[in-house]
Amino acid sequence: MNNFQFYNPTRIIFGAGSIEKLKKLVPRKARILMLYGGGSIKKNGVYMQVADALRKHELFEFGGIEPNPDYATLMKAIKSVKKNNIDFLLAVGGGSVIDGTKFISVASLYQGQDPWDIVSQGLASGIKKALPFGVVLTLPATGSEMNHNSVISNRDKGQKLSFGSEIIFPKFSILDPKVTYSLPKEQIRNGLVDAYVHILEQYLTYPVDAVVQDRQAEALLLTIHEIAQRTLQTDPPDYGARANYMWVCSNALNYLIGVGVPQDWATHGIGHALTALYGLAHAESLAVTLPWLLWYKREQKQEKLLQYGYRVLDQKMQKYSERIDRTIEALAAFFHSLGMPTTLTSYGLDPDQVADEVQTKLEAENFARGEYRDVTAADAAAILRMSR
Ligand code: NZQ
Ligand code: ZN
Repeated sequence: MNNFQFYNPTRIIFGAGSIEKLKKLVPRKARILMLYGGGSIKKNGVYMQVADALRKHELFEFGGIEPNPDYATLMKAIKSVKKNNIDFLLAVGGGSVIDGTKFISVASLYQGQDPWDIVSQGLASGIKKALPFGVVLTLPATGSEMNHNSVISNRDKGQKLSFGSEIIFPKFSILDPKVTYSLPKEQIRNGLVDAYVHILEQYLTYPVDAVVQDRQAEALLLTIHEIAQRTLQTDPPDYGARANYMWVCSNALNYLIGVGVPQDWATHGIGHALTALYGLAHAESLAVTLPWLLWYKREQKQEKLLQYGYRVLDQKMQKYSERIDRTIEALAAFFHSLGMPTTLTSYGLDPDQVADEVQTKLEAENFARGEYRDVTAADAAAILRMSR
């Protein structure tokens, strides 16, 4: 096992009916800006629950943060922060609203010329001040409610980039599984796939004798297999499945399973380029990349592929090359069972053209990912050419 430090200060408040606890979690004298997306919280009652819990607080609001939160929208929210002397932010939404709020929390206090530099120049690690914020999670998927990452899109520049800093951990996150009842099946599918890929990015590399992390990652993967179909059930929704779905997504990317082990993240890097260029949803972009990346890297990842196949996908054949083939096929079949396509052609995209365009884009970003940092823009293109 490699050396590591682990730090995660986010308080989790889990369970049905937890939103009313907001009144005690948010400082009584705070001037709060509640941030949300395109309006799902107004239809499913979450907005009312939040407003009710905070009726004795001073509450302002900013709606309209879009999926893959856009820099221009977030800059408008920052204007509202300054105009209203806001000193506490409350994100009510999925990964996009939470990530947007993380950016707003840092950029509102940023003294430099251009806040986009925080994201594009990796300045966040040097920044010491951020507005405190809490989260009411409405879409389990990204793990953003319990980590210190944020992914921001800049549509004017055609970019989608991530940044991270210890100052952007949420102070608290409320996880009420009942808020997932209004999710369309497609979003649940996206959430399950995103979490699954987060686990594999931290697990499917090379062995470093990290038995705890491996077994924990496998437990999370097996959990997703076990609950997936029950979670997709909508009529009526299954509370137990939704509770496990919510908690597995947070655990997939609160970095506990990533301590002391090599990490990959090439699929995410390529996926972000696909979202920026073609508008695929985040999880869709991962599913058209990952199986092909595994074919492409099957020798380098051989030991972990064999272990993953044996322990998680029940692929126990003794001939190693055959077990690896069946393992990658079983992964793709699992995604298909959730209704998630695994090829670019399923979206009417031409893999050759996509490969060329992604290569040009990633070359400009000096792309180098993978557990050995050896997945380059040219490798990304070779991987995407297979996605048919
Ligand atoms: O905007 P509203 O109307 O609220 O609708 C949203 C949105 O259209 C809807 N939704 C959310 N909760 C709902 C609901 N609809 C009905 N009922 C509910 N309870 O779902 C749609 C998608 O929401 P979004 O927040 O965009 O989805 P997700 O949570 O998948 O977040 C995706 C973003 O997170 C980034 C992605 O790149 C993408 O920008 N990621 C962030 C990470 C992190 N911070 O650690 C890691 C991830 O790998 C990922 O990159
Ligand atoms: Zn992801």
